[in-house]
Amino acid sequence: MKILVCGKGGCGKSTISTLLAKEISRRGGKVLVIDTDESNFGLHSQLGVEAPQDFMNYFGGKKLLFDQVKTLQKGWKIDEIPEEYLSEKENIKLLAMGKIYDFGEGCACPINALSSKFLEVIELGKNEFLIADTDAGIEHLGRGVDKNCDIIIVVVEPSRESIKLSKKISEMAKAINKDFWYVLNKVDEDTRDILLNSVEKDKVIAVIPRDERIFKNCLSGKELDVELEEVKKMVDVLENLQKKKKSI
Ligand SMILES: Nc1ncnc2c1ncn2[C@@H]1O[C@H](COP(=O)(O)OP(=O)(O)OP(=O)(O)O)[C@@H](O)[C@H]1O
Ligand SMILES: [Mg+2]
Repeated sequence: MKILVCGKGGCGKSTISTLLAKEISRRGGKVLVIDTDESNFGLHSQLGVEAPQDFMNYFGGKKLLFDQVKTLQKGWKIDEIPEEYLSEKENIKLLAMGKIYDFGEGCACPINALSSKFLEVIELGKNEFLIADTDAGIEHLGRGVDKNCDIIIVVVEPSRESIKLSKKISEMAKAINKDFWYVLNKVDEDTRDILLNSVEKDKVIAVIPRDERIFKNCLSGKELDVELEEVKKMVDVLENLQKKKKSI
């Protein structure tokens, strides 16, 4: 199953991607986490691994990427990704598409093109999950990255902007006939009902509490090794979805 995690900047996309990957890995599932965010550098720390080399280098770097990406053929398997582009821990492999490093180096379009094509061509086996952690906002939707995933998880934090953006994403997901789910994140007693009443309730797959351990781990750049009941339940639902839709 190819899961794309998106939402407003800072809502918790990387945190939810990490919590999901770790729970699936603990259950023995294989997880390929794809970092499609060209701007942020923190996902590898949350997963507790070194930052891998940018996958765009495999295609000759950003300048050649647009043309090279077109040559990617369907049928790539996780085990066929060259090792030097992966960071691994337990059952999790992290692949980072590419980052912007320097002033004036140009836009992230080629990196988005690679993310989109890679999601299309990678073939997952039984008990394999792909989790794509995206950049903030909806550029990835505008560029069609999301069409090649099986489900979209929209992370919503308690803020008006986050709620508004999540509605926009849900409309776009419906327009391309994509299954989508909300994860309400950083929720406490005061904000729980407000958030639940702001989205389609039957589409909420998890309500993740504001958790001091998560906050402190992220602040210190430490690995995120927090086990939450809500995440376990979310993985139960995802595993059931996977079983129901045999194709994913
Ligand atoms: N459930 C939570 N409880 C407490 N803090 C949280 C929780 N989820 C996320 N955070 C905090 O929110 C901040 C942003 O989280 P994260 O980096 O996962 O967001 P993001 O959506 O990936 O951000 P970006 O858009 O910059 O990629 C971090 O400092 C993290 O500690
Ligand atoms: Mg992030």
